[in-house]
Amino acid sequence: MPTPVILVHGGAGAVDPARRPLHAEGCARAAEAGRAALAAGGRARDAVLAACAALEDDPLFNAGHGACLTAEGTVELDAAIMDGERLELGAVACLPPFANPIRIADAVRADGVHTLYAAQGAARFARDHGFAPLGPDALVTDAARERLARVLAGAADRGWAGGTVGAVACDAGGHVAAATSTGGTVAKRPGRVGDTPLAGAGTWADDLSGACSATGVGEAIMRLGLARRACDLLHAGSADEAARRAIEELGRRVGGSGGLILVDNGGRTAVARNTETMSWALARLGEPTESGF
Ligand code: GLY
Repeated sequence: MPTPVILVHGGAGAVDPARRPLHAEGCARAAEAGRAALAAGGRARDAVLAACAALEDDPLFNAGHGACLTAEGTVELDAAIMDGERLELGAVACLPPFANPIRIADAVRADGVHTLYAAQGAARFARDHGFAPLGPDALVTDAARERLARVLAGAADRGWAGGTVGAVACDAGGHVAAATSTGGTVAKRPGRVGDTPLAGAGTWADDLSGACSATGVGEAIMRLGLARRACDLLHAGSADEAARRAIEELGRRVGGSGGLILVDNGGRTAVARNTETMSWALARLGEPTESGF
C-alpha cells in the first residue's frame, strides 16, 4: 500500500533568483493543504483539489488571483481535474472571473453530464452550482498588469505562461489524481484555450499508470499530449525516466518549453523541466515537506 503523497508545481518559466524562495514557499503551503486532506482520510482527488485551490488563492501564481491577462486586459481562466480510478474528468476553459476555477472544474466532474464547459456556458454552469461570479478586476494584480504592459510594449515574450499551477497525488488505495489551473499566456487572444483544461495535454490521471500536471507554453504541450505521454511512459520505466523522456520529447518533437510533475500508482514521484525554473513542493504523510525551484 503506497504512503499517501502529494506533489505540486507553481509553473515553469524563469523566475527572478531573488523571488524563487517565495515561489517554493507558496508551493510548500499548497502541498501541506493537500497533505492535510490526505491525513484526514481524503482521496487523491480531494488532495489535489485542496492544493490547487490554495495555489489559485496565492497572487504569486498565474491562476485564480494573480492570473495573467488577455491582450484586451481581461481574465480568462482554464482548469481541469481528473480522478484516475474511473477516469472522471471535469474542466472549464475561458472562464470569466471566479475565485477558484478548479472547484468549478470539480463540480463539472461531479455533475457528470459533460466534461468541459467554456466561456459564458462555463460561467452559467458555475452560477447554477452556487459559485459567485467576481467583478472584472477582482483577480487582477499589479504584477499581471505590468506583465501585460511589457508584452504589449514588445519588452517581453507574448507566449509566457509561467506560474500555471498544478498538483498530482496518490492515496493509500493507490488511486491517483491530477489538477491544473491557469490564466494561460500573457496577452493571449481572447478565446484562446491552452493545454491545461485538455485531458492528456496539461492534465491526466489513470490508476493503471499515474497522474501528471504539465506547465509551459500550451500550444506545444497539446500537440504532444504531454501529460498522457508522461503517464504512458511509466509503463516502460521509472517515474524519473518517464518525466525526463516526456520533457525531452516536448523539446525535440514540437520545440516546446515547459515542465511537469508526475506520480505513479505506487506513489513514486518525479519533477522535470526544460525551462530555467519550476517551483515545486512534495508532501508525503509522516515526512517533512520538500520544495525547490
Ligand atoms: N500551460 C498554460 C497555457 O499555455 O495556457
